[in-house]
Amino acid sequence: MEKKQLLYEGKAKKVWSTEDENLCIVDYKDDATAFNGLKKGTIAGKGAINNRVSNFMMQVLEQEGVPTHFVEELSERETLVKKVSIVPLEVIIRNISAGSFAKNYGVEEGIVFEEPTIEFSYKNDDLGDPLINAYHARALKLATKEEIETIKAMAFKTNEVMKAFFKKLNIDLVDFKLEFGKTADGSLVLADEISPDTCRFWDSTTHEKLDKDRFRRDMGNVEGAYQEMMKRILGE
Ligand code: TMP
Ligand code: ASP
Repeated sequence: MEKKQLLYEGKAKKVWSTEDENLCIVDYKDDATAFNGLKKGTIAGKGAINNRVSNFMMQVLEQEGVPTHFVEELSERETLVKKVSIVPLEVIIRNISAGSFAKNYGVEEGIVFEEPTIEFSYKNDDLGDPLINAYHARALKLATKEEIETIKAMAFKTNEVMKAFFKKLNIDLVDFKLEFGKTADGSLVLADEISPDTCRFWDSTTHEKLDKDRFRRDMGNVEGAYQEMMKRILGE
């Protein structure tokens, strides 16, 4: 399958059309941004790592009954995916306090929650992806009540599968962001990516951060953290 037309260029990926109107090619970049694009940089090798990591996780999830956009890995940085219209919600699940949760609610990082939390942001860069609730999402016609229920169930299921998967790799899955898309027939699938850009991963023993927080917070060894996660996930 060949790339035809550039449909969309985001901060970390490009999306191309193909000769099949129901399929797209995603092309992962090494570019990294944080704080709604205020901080910019590159993470050498990130595009290839995120492509492989995300595809691996999408296949794990498919096997566990979570439908995803994944079709086929085409090259180091390119993947064939189902064409979807993205539901403009960032769906965030948290198992342990960190990041904006710790900041917004004035608590330290590392509090293990008895139950996971879910929150939604309105995916809109001009507005800085503001936090919204399910009623706001419906009022803004971002999704229907039924779609929000399906998204919630798929997000919590994804958390259970991923938490167990990462525990075996001696990684605590702290939190992560998901995006969902609707295919031509209207069904919801997990889309976007699952990678160290979109998840927080802490080594269970050392609590070392192995994700994009190393870039956001200028902690050094960003590339090393991405490589370590790929090594543990792909077992190579
Ligand atoms: P937060 O603590 O900054 O709200 O982030 C929660 C999780 O969502 C964390 O794993 C990083 C991920 N995330 C994204 O993937 N994209 C974003 O734009 C933001 C703000 C967070
Ligand atoms: N990628 C997002 C941005 O540029 C934020 C983040 O991951 O921290 O703003």
